[in-house]
Amino acid sequence: MRHLLDISDLSPAEVWQILHTAAALKAEWRQAGNAPILAGKALGMIFQKPSLRTRVSFEMAMQHLGGHAIYLAPNEISLGARESVPDVARVLARYVDAIMARVFDHQHILQLAQVAGVPVINGLSDFSHPCQALSDLFTIYEKHGRLAGLKLAYVGDGNNVAVSLAQAGARTGMHITIAAPPGFQIAAAVGQAAAAEALRQGGSLTLTADPFAAVAGADIIYTDTWASMGQEAEAGQRRLVFPPYQVNDALLKASGNADVLVMHCLPAHRGEEITDDVADGPHSLLWDQAGNRMHCQKAILALLLA
Ligand code: CP
Ligand code: NVA
Repeated sequence: MRHLLDISDLSPAEVWQILHTAAALKAEWRQAGNAPILAGKALGMIFQKPSLRTRVSFEMAMQHLGGHAIYLAPNEISLGARESVPDVARVLARYVDAIMARVFDHQHILQLAQVAGVPVINGLSDFSHPCQALSDLFTIYEKHGRLAGLKLAYVGDGNNVAVSLAQAGARTGMHITIAAPPGFQIAAAVGQAAAAEALRQGGSLTLTADPFAAVAGADIIYTDTWASMGQEAEAGQRRLVFPPYQVNDALLKASGNADVLVMHCLPAHRGEEITDDVADGPHSLLWDQAGNRMHCQKAILALLLA
């Protein structure tokens, strides 16, 4: 593994390597703190969009492993505007040992990786959110002790998070269903590739527009915002389309599973894609899920840098 750009670049073995490393580093940190395996190393973090979890979890992960992180805010280097993407990559790579970037255009992640000569990590693009999906599989694995055969129903917008979950679930033999309104489903080609991989691993990928059919028998119900960062202008229109996809008590009951778990990458828009009582209720994994981002970032950093 040279970069972490997209889950589709990872083999099932590499996904498992990240999950097992996350578990080991989390246990080590809880016992006595992490060994400083990244002493002297620096991570440059480019953000074109806001962030709480990704920024702070990467920053603390570097600190716990003995390294250093530098936060570059959206207006600071104005990636692609003040300076071209390749020029930023060439210069930043002379100062730091790895680059994590959160961008709009996924091509910019690929360009950074082409030119930088240091590992590049996709901290979310309009296309995918691989660090999120890896961390989410880690959280599910912690709760269930396995991934293969588990059924995860993603209900909502077929966005970057849905794409990465489909790709990651496929590599671990999960049964993933994505329920999205017509016109908001993940791209057909992405779905086909993930479905083929899922089949090879004994799992499946199902795309549907029916949220109630999707959650039947689910072990995990997952949702995300109806309008992602960069889609703010569409938020009003989307609020008219998405209400049938709200994760609420009725949808949980439709799973038929008294122990169904609920996940959300956050930030949540309470009262839209998820109700307060579900987010704060006994099925919610939201806070463990957010906390695990730090442990999984450590695994990614350790595998790319140590
Ligand atoms: N889930 C996630 O990536 O959160 P942030 O946007 O706060 O980083
Ligand atoms: N789909 C959301 C995820 C945020 C972590 C977005 O792109 O804004």
